Amino acid sequence: MADRITLGVLVSGRGTNLQAIIDACEQGTIDAKVAVVISDKADAYALERARKHGIAAVHVPVGKYGTPAYERADAEQLRILKEHGVQLVCMAGYMRKLGPRVLDAYPGAVMNIHPALLPSFPGAHGQPDALAYGVKISGCTVHFADAEFDQGPIIIQAAVPVVEGDDADTLAARILQQEHKIYLQAIQWFAEGRLRIEGRHVRVLDAEQPPAGQAIISPPLQIEERWP
Ligand code: GAR
Repeated sequence: MADRITLGVLVSGRGTNLQAIIDACEQGTIDAKVAVVISDKADAYALERARKHGIAAVHVPVGKYGTPAYERADAEQLRILKEHGVQLVCMAGYMRKLGPRVLDAYPGAVMNIHPALLPSFPGAHGQPDALAYGVKISGCTVHFADAEFDQGPIIIQAAVPVVEGDDADTLAARILQQEHKIYLQAIQWFAEGRLRIEGRHVRVLDAEQPPAGQAIISPPLQIEERWP
């Protein structure tokens, strides 16, 4: 059991990842508590979810990147995170670049989740972009955040098949199920002090290794295996 770490969650929308995090905190699945939720959108349903659980929910409007309004928002976000004693910042469907003040104040302590196997398909449309490209496997990624969109060192990824007849919504739903699992794992590793950033690599101390001979093949093989 690790000490409970204090989370600040940044959101822009409906907040299913936030909900998974809140539920896991309440159920003791992860050693964390959500102290504050910050949204750049006043009407984000994620704010409502936070309030239902008695969590501080704050709207901080964010101007255009590089403008004085953006810089003010960066400072205000940092003030709120510090006020709530936040130790780990989790971007969960937060669709903006994080400002330099927050990033500098939380080195190695800002995570993001993205609905694609990074570095493929970064940006705001990971699932439809992957589908349009014709990939047979997609998935999701939790990574440490830096000043660019969806670019920092990768902590954990989950892969899912793209299946015949998928549209962006069915693929997004399949990926989302995995998002809700891998984000919790990444947070728990952080809480346990088990993540080491070494350049672009994140080492998970004492991590179990996946079976090296196991693969997701999509579509599945229909030839007989003739080799031993
Ligand atoms: C999630 O699929 C998340 O991975 C994605 O937004 C969705 C938010 O859903 N984030 C990005 O695309 C970041 N580039 P949620 O509000 O229900 O958690």
